[in-house]
Amino acid sequence: MNAIRIENPGPAYALTLAGSEKPRPRAGEILVKVAAAGVNRADLLQAMGMYPPPPGASLTLGLELSGEIAALGDGVVNHKLGDQVCALVAGGAYAEYAVAPVQCVLPVPRGVSLVEAAGLPEAHFTVWTNLIDTARLKPGESVLIHGGSSGIGTPALQLCAARGQTVFATAGSVEKCKACEALGAARAINYRSEDFVAVVQAATGGKGVDVILDMVGGDYIQRNFQAAALWGRIVNVAYQSGTTATVDFAPMLRKRLTLAATTLRPRGNDEKGAIRDALLKEVWPLIEAGRIKPVIDGTFPLAAAQAAHARMAKSDHIGKILLTL
Ligand SMILES: NC(=O)c1ccc[n+]([C@@H]2O[C@H](COP(=O)([O-])OP(=O)(O)OC[C@H]3O[C@@H](n4cnc5c(N)ncnc54)[C@H](OP(=O)(O)O)[C@@H]3O)[C@@H](O)[C@H]2O)c1
Repeated sequence: MNAIRIENPGPAYALTLAGSEKPRPRAGEILVKVAAAGVNRADLLQAMGMYPPPPGASLTLGLELSGEIAALGDGVVNHKLGDQVCALVAGGAYAEYAVAPVQCVLPVPRGVSLVEAAGLPEAHFTVWTNLIDTARLKPGESVLIHGGSSGIGTPALQLCAARGQTVFATAGSVEKCKACEALGAARAINYRSEDFVAVVQAATGGKGVDVILDMVGGDYIQRNFQAAALWGRIVNVAYQSGTTATVDFAPMLRKRLTLAATTLRPRGNDEKGAIRDALLKEVWPLIEAGRIKPVIDGTFPLAAAQAAHARMAKSDHIGKILLTL
């Protein structure tokens, strides 16, 4: 089969299509003939040599995919050959075939195309486990989503809007802010021209927001404390502006804040399976009802993975970038 190979890992990496061994499903895994794979910012970091795959994961890029089941490993009983699925994988999706653990497999929701479904798993697993499991977002609470127009932000905004939360979002352009408001943000904040702390405080009558989903870090760590409400919960999924900061923690004491951070990829399959079950129960019905729509920036053929990465690196995109086979 063909798969994307990383030539010259590092800042000047190149992605090329090359022959590779077709993976075989082990017990508890399925083999998928890939229809599409999602591009994630983590893939860019991995190609630059800054985000190695966890032990045992495929060295091929790609954290999510959609396609048809082509083979079943021992003990797999709830799936059959030819089923159309999407799946979260710890690696290997930039290829014609990939294996996925059964705990990370979901059906393609009704109303979503097989290609679009490739962009669902990574974002929805991440959003659910961080907003609901970690930040304990409750009905009626307000939430601030940093990077609202991103692959992670666009489903996060829609999930919160569908659940009746008051949603704020930050984004880096007028066009991206418009997109965030179209997806359900009560107020999108252009972080290049506005101060999100001031906007959130004014809009909430000085109360602040109950939950913040942050992928920025750096100086946002301190500013998130200022934007948070009493008993607020802040959860980081990335630190794009840096993992270090000089921080005054006094607001955490005064406001009784919780600051958390999590990664999804290295977690065990059973833990991922529990998130999958929650998505099937709580989120897939919202997708099938049209209340959460896949937001697709564009698609590239697998062989043009390099161009897809260049599009993400430029950060002009809104929503997901997909690779198609
Ligand atoms: N922890 C986990 O388990 C986990 C799982 C999945 C993803 N992630 C992380 O989540 C982030 C998003 O992933 P993705 O694949 O959705 O990538 P993406 O679409 O490229 O999103 C990155 C976003 O960050 C925004 N951003 C950058 N600087 C910002 C700032 N100062 N203020 C507000 N927004 C800012 C960008 O918007 P502008 O271009 O407008 O600045 C862009 O929308 C990545 O850092 C990824 O590594 C973590």
